[in-house]
Amino acid sequence: MLVILAFMFIFCRSFALDSHSSNLIENNESSKWGNYYLNTIHTEPHKTLILALKYFQLENNIGNAVDLGAGAGRDTIFLLKAGWQVFALDAEQLSIDVIINQIDSELLSNLKVAVVPFSEMIIPNELNLINASYSLPFCKPEDFALCWKKIMNGLIIGGRFCGQFFGVHDEWANSPNLTIHTFDDLMKLFENQFVIEYLQIENGLIPCANGELKHWHIYHIVAKKINY
Ligand SMILES: C[S@@+](CC[C@H](N)C(=O)[O-])C[C@H]1O[C@@H](n2cnc3c(N)ncnc32)[C@H](O)[C@@H]1O
Repeated sequence: MLVILAFMFIFCRSFALDSHSSNLIENNESSKWGNYYLNTIHTEPHKTLILALKYFQLENNIGNAVDLGAGAGRDTIFLLKAGWQVFALDAEQLSIDVIINQIDSELLSNLKVAVVPFSEMIIPNELNLINASYSLPFCKPEDFALCWKKIMNGLIIGGRFCGQFFGVHDEWANSPNLTIHTFDDLMKLFENQFVIEYLQIENGLIPCANGELKHWHIYHIVAKKINY
């Protein structure tokens, strides 16, 4: 009986948290990311993050992570549940509200948040992991170099970066507000200081979060910092 009551309590609580998160998004019409958050709020973490955590597991390593452009929190929540301390950062207040709303109270003390654009962010030092899933391409080109410098400086030796970059054949590549990388540009980001542990390139018609097909040209990458 006790087990059934406990199960009902947990189920009802998660249902209330989840429906509250969706309401938060639906009632906010000012965010241009609202539909994306609705489509991704209960989805799996990205494979680049799952892989990076597997590499850390092999090393019996765990620590401090930053989630850049955390969105509706799929990666932040996965990291928290895996025992990481997480700093979730996003330019949208809605993103951070939705994330906080989903976190169980016992994990809240492991989470720090900031509503700030990449151009103004302050990244802590001594980080084990910087995760940027589908977010850095939305950094304005004129801000990217400084943003990347902060990322490189934030990681300790042995720390990892994981995330996505967009390539020149992406359907959105001509947008002046997006940061697009050629393959050579991408390699330059990681040369000397990192070893690339995983690289997958997708270049073709692939569904977006809303199910519509789009021509994506994406680099999925996990890299380990080996040099200052
Ligand atoms: C495509 S979503 C990815 C969200 C999440 N990482 C995921 O994979 O589901 C991009 C996120 O980056 C955030 N973003 C876009 N431009 C940004 C900027 N200049 N500074 C900080 N965050 C930004 C958006 O608010 C959005 O939440």
